[in-house]
Amino acid sequence: MHVRRTRGWELPSSSATPEALYFSRRELMGAGAALLAAGVVAGPAVAQRVGDLPDPSAGLYPAAQNPRYTLDRPVTPQDKSSVVNNYYEFSYGKNVAPSMGRFQRRPWLVKIDGLVEKPQEFGIDDLLKKVQLEERLYRHRCVEAWSMAVPWTGFPMKDLVALAAPTSAAKYVRMETFLDPKVAPNQKDFRFPWPYVEGLTLAEATNELAFLVTGVYGKPAPGQYGAPLRLVTPWKYGFKSIKGIVRFSFTDKQPVSFWEEVQGGEYGFWANVNPKVPHPRWSQASEEDITTGNRRPTLLFNGYGEFVADLYKGREAEKIWF
Ligand code: MTE
Repeated sequence: MHVRRTRGWELPSSSATPEALYFSRRELMGAGAALLAAGVVAGPAVAQRVGDLPDPSAGLYPAAQNPRYTLDRPVTPQDKSSVVNNYYEFSYGKNVAPSMGRFQRRPWLVKIDGLVEKPQEFGIDDLLKKVQLEERLYRHRCVEAWSMAVPWTGFPMKDLVALAAPTSAAKYVRMETFLDPKVAPNQKDFRFPWPYVEGLTLAEATNELAFLVTGVYGKPAPGQYGAPLRLVTPWKYGFKSIKGIVRFSFTDKQPVSFWEEVQGGEYGFWANVNPKVPHPRWSQASEEDITTGNRRPTLLFNGYGEFVADLYKGREAEKIWF
């Protein structure tokens, strides 16, 4: 976020890869892998870029939409939201997908540890057998002052907390992204404290809005959206929405999140959306809709105050806004 002054969505559209092209390229990679397996094609150039294996969860989509969560704006078309992403492990630009050639969504192990009755480790598909997927339409507001509206598929985070059974000492959930510099080239960049870490209080994690996402637009999520497991907390700035999660640790200490460690004066633990509290380097009063380029006023808690304002009653004077 802080290392670039030019914003990725200002790239000329000619430099963005339309999603259809991206997926057809992935299919070609898949075909390349098959040829490689058959011994028809040799050489590391193809082997390095085989892309995803088929997704075993595809049959779970599309999930029924939960009508409780409604939008005040149109859903952002997928050909826009799939090329305006933040995933620093792969790219410091916004069109992340072309840098994800080595990323695979399976196998994917998720660990639950720390202050819990039931420490455990399971494959993502075993986790998907224990939860009920649903679709939710959420607004998504990045701290960089752009926004979109996304049809996420996933399950309430409180269901994962229930599986973990935290002890009474647990106050926070610390989440961690995978660490594999062979797959995610920027994890070799020593300026950043990899792996990406984020955290929530237990009360936030069990709030009905906290959503663990596995899919978008009625299908398993492509890698750039944080597949196969990412967090979405729509009342907070997007950097809280950690992607590629492999670990949930329950703890009594407030976790230090990735951006807090990198630049604590600009990015804090709470990161609740507030149009009246500017980022040190820019206003948060309005946001740019990535579909239209138009600006709209930003809403307190990104418009989700009715669900979350109670979590922060009496703490408004604290640094809960950045
Ligand atoms: N998670 C990881 N692991 N790495 C990242 O760089 N970027 C964050 C968040 N989660 C990031 C991440 C930021 S700054 C934002 S705004 C959102 O992901 C972007 O989500 P999107 O690409 O789906 O819009």
